[in-house]
Amino acid sequence: MSHSDDLLWEAVSGLSRFSALLTMAELGVADHLAHGPSTTEELAGRCGAHAPSLRRVLRELTSMGLVRPAGADRHDLTERGAVLRSDAPDSIRSSIRMLGEEGFWYAMGNLPATVRTGRSAFAAQFGNLYEHLAARPETSRLFNDYMRARAVTFTEGLAKRYDFSQAGTMVDVAGGKGHILATVLHANPGMRGVLFDLEHVAEGARESLAAEGLAGRCEVVAGDFFAGVPAGADVYLLASVLHNWGDDDAVRILRNVRRAMAPAGRVLVLEVVLPDDGEPHLGKDLDMRMLAIFDGAVERSRQEYAALFDRSELKLTNVIELGAGASLIEAVPS
Ligand SMILES: C[S@@+](CC[C@H](N)C(=O)[O-])C[C@H]1O[C@@H](n2cnc3c(N)ncnc32)[C@H](O)[C@@H]1O
Repeated sequence: MSHSDDLLWEAVSGLSRFSALLTMAELGVADHLAHGPSTTEELAGRCGAHAPSLRRVLRELTSMGLVRPAGADRHDLTERGAVLRSDAPDSIRSSIRMLGEEGFWYAMGNLPATVRTGRSAFAAQFGNLYEHLAARPETSRLFNDYMRARAVTFTEGLAKRYDFSQAGTMVDVAGGKGHILATVLHANPGMRGVLFDLEHVAEGARESLAAEGLAGRCEVVAGDFFAGVPAGADVYLLASVLHNWGDDDAVRILRNVRRAMAPAGRVLVLEVVLPDDGEPHLGKDLDMRMLAIFDGAVERSRQEYAALFDRSELKLTNVIELGAGASLIEAVPS
């Protein structure tokens, strides 16, 4: 079998494995196994599941190394499976639940329809993702947890590899729960931060930043980045923001940042930058999700980010690899 056939059948099997993972996350299997092994019947009782069906899912989860046999018809949680516990420090339970959420699932299943029409089937059915989330507090919580979990690896890279020594204040534009801002502030004790996001997200950010002990060094401002962003800071971070928008909208956001920033300010765009080659890449996978969920959202190459800056009176100065496929693109006023 050729390499490309392997990839093809792996992608097909990936759907079954993801469905088993989603079932584990939704039913709280990891939480129910947290205190030791359990028989399938006991576990089904705790999870509110049909035991014969759960047994088949447990077999798939065993093959994925998420649970392991612990006697006849008994299973125990593995270290890998423990990241699905709700109380794990970098729990991915919410992320998996978000990716399997009704709208996200619908979006990926309807990618062919999106590609036929050029209009997101998700957007036609559910509206803009952020309006969809604003009306659904539980889904919004899952989304913000998902953003935090996916950022863990590259956020550490940002705090370590970017020199914030000249920065007094950073505005995290559309910063979600404030997880990236918190990491930067912890690593740079002299800095202050402003978390900017939509009202319903800002509320959660206030709580998270207070829980991090950062309430005194950090302001939370609610607003719409198409109307404007908080003025006068040295650094404006836009992490996983521009890829949600088409070029004209991305330029509107960047121009608002350009207007608001201090004269010697810097813009930091944290995104997965598309390579020019034909090899598999996280950015190409992520681009399928952007295409499916939003009208206009797109992953971009370095040149395409440079072109957005050019249209916004900014110029690209540096690109730093942060690990986990993410890059930090720095720009200054042109
Ligand atoms: C993909 S998330 C990125 C969150 C965070 N920066 C991160 O990297 O984890 C995009 C963020 O944009 C925010 N957002 C969407 N539309 C917005 C708007 N019009 N004004 C301000 N924030 C907005 C969302 O609430 C969400 O937190």
